[in-house]
Amino acid sequence: MTDLNHLFANNRLWARRIKESDPDFFTKLSHLQAPEYLWIGCSDSRVPANEIVKLLPGELFVHRNVGNIVLHTDLNCLSVLQYAVDVLKVKHIIVCGHYGCGGIKAALHNKELGLIDTWIRNIKDIYLKNRDEINGLPDEQARQDRLCELNVMSQVANVSHSNILQDAWKRQQDVTVHGWIYSIDDGILEDLKVDCSGLEQLEDIYRLR
Ligand code: CO
Repeated sequence: MTDLNHLFANNRLWARRIKESDPDFFTKLSHLQAPEYLWIGCSDSRVPANEIVKLLPGELFVHRNVGNIVLHTDLNCLSVLQYAVDVLKVKHIIVCGHYGCGGIKAALHNKELGLIDTWIRNIKDIYLKNRDEINGLPDEQARQDRLCELNVMSQVANVSHSNILQDAWKRQQDVTVHGWIYSIDDGILEDLKVDCSGLEQLEDIYRLR
């Protein structure tokens, strides 16, 4: 069996450091979780949600999957979203993609990878919807980067179209959906400026009355 003792050693050091700066930190957290943000990001190990926005435990509610996809049939993601909006009452939902995403790269190719192909097919649909724009770009890198961005925009729309967000907005709850993208190359986050914060921003066909 692989020796994972170094991970426990890291953990003890981490917990001790936090306690040194705030002796009641864990006691307070054990009584209440009240994050202001829900993060929906990629599973990629190079995009650690809390670290890149420098938030502590308790400050960020997190859901991650390959390609930061929000599907209307994914009970896992929708349960996280419902709990975050209805119970935790987060103010911001951040869909964060990243350049160099393996899921996006795979979607632009035809290599068979297994079960994950079914998941990635959702990204192929986004490619197809935007084929002319993407194919018009000068090289493979630019096409991948643009699909990373378009995927984020599409997932922001999926979050916003959900009954969960529509119901929250109907009861005047203050919650905004954001689309961001992270660059693994330099550690910098950018806002894609596709915020959605109310029913009036939705295409009419998605509005539920
Ligand atoms: Co990724």
